[in-house]
Amino acid sequence: MTPSNENELTQAALQRLEGAADPRFEEVMRSLVTHLHAFIREVDLQPAEWMAGIEFLTAVGQACDDKRQEFILLSDTLGASMMVVMLDQLRAAARTGQSSQAGKTLHATETTEATVQGPYYWDGAPDLPLGADIAPGVRGEPAFYSGRVTDTRGQPLANALLDIWSGDGEGVYDMQVEGAGMAARARIRTDAEGRYWFWSIKPSYYPVPVDGPVGRMLAGMGRHPNRPGHIHMKVVAEGHVPVTTHLFVAGSPYIDSDAVFGVRPSLVVDFESHPPGKAPDGRAIERPYWSAHYDFHLQPEAA
Ligand code: BEZ
Ligand code: FE
Repeated sequence: MTPSNENELTQAALQRLEGAADPRFEEVMRSLVTHLHAFIREVDLQPAEWMAGIEFLTAVGQACDDKRQEFILLSDTLGASMMVVMLDQLRAAARTGQSSQAGKTLHATETTEATVQGPYYWDGAPDLPLGADIAPGVRGEPAFYSGRVTDTRGQPLANALLDIWSGDGEGVYDMQVEGAGMAARARIRTDAEGRYWFWSIKPSYYPVPVDGPVGRMLAGMGRHPNRPGHIHMKVVAEGHVPVTTHLFVAGSPYIDSDAVFGVRPSLVVDFESHPPGKAPDGRAIERPYWSAHYDFHLQPEAA
C-alpha cells in the first residue's frame, strides 16, 4: 500500500508489521506506531520540533555509560517506570489469586506495595547480623529500623532477606562518590519470628541527577528534581513474590511531589524522635536518634 494521506500512512506502517514472527512484539509495536502517529498529529509536530526530539533522545543515549542510565531516569521522571511497577504488582496479585483489579489500590495490610528500584542498587551488599549498624561512619542522624516480614495472612517469614540501601543523611549515595566503597547497605535476614531490626541513618531528600538532558527537560517543564527521604529495600522470601520498595520519611520535603512518582501512601512511615539513652535493642545511644517501624507482607506464590 502506498499511502496518499495521513490516515493511510498509519495504516501502511501497521501493515508492515504483518510479518512479525513474535506476536507480543507485534502487539507492542502496533500500539507504539498507533500512539506515536496519533501523538504527532495531536500536537501537530513541526519539523524543527521533531528534530529537537531526535537531538534530545540522542543526548539521553550519549549520557549513558556503565554507571549512568539516562533512559531509565527519563522513564522514571515521566512516570513510565512507576506505571510498569504498578501493573507488574497487579499482575502478580492476579497470578497468585489475590483479589485485585487494575485501578484498585493494594492496602498496607495486604501485599507491601512496590516502587521503583532507582539507579543506586549495588549487588553484593555485605551480609550483616540482626541489629547491626549498617551505616557506621556515614553522615546523618542515627535511626533504628524494626518490624516483621510476614505473608499476606500474617504468618511470619523466617530467614526472609532484606537487601537494604540508602543515601546518607544529606542525600548522597556511596555510588555518587568517586572511588568510594559500599556504605549504608546490607543484607539482613529475619529471625524465626520474622522479625528484623538494624541501625542506619534517617535518610534525607535529594535530587535525581540533573546535569544531563533529563535535568534540562525537568527545568523546561518547570519541575523540581527532588525525591523525598527514603530507604530502599528488596524483600525476598522463599515461595513468595519478592518486592522492591522504599520506606519514605513522613513529613519529608517533597513527600507529595516525588520527581519519579514513587511515593505510595502505604510506604510513608513516621520516624519517631528519641533523646539519648537506652535504645529499644538495649544499646546505649549518646546522641538523639530516630526510630521507624514497618511490617512487610509478601504474597505467597501460587501453588
Ligand atoms: C533513587 O531512589 O535514588 C532514584 C530513583 C529514580 C531515579 C533517580 C534516583
Ligand atoms: Fe533512592
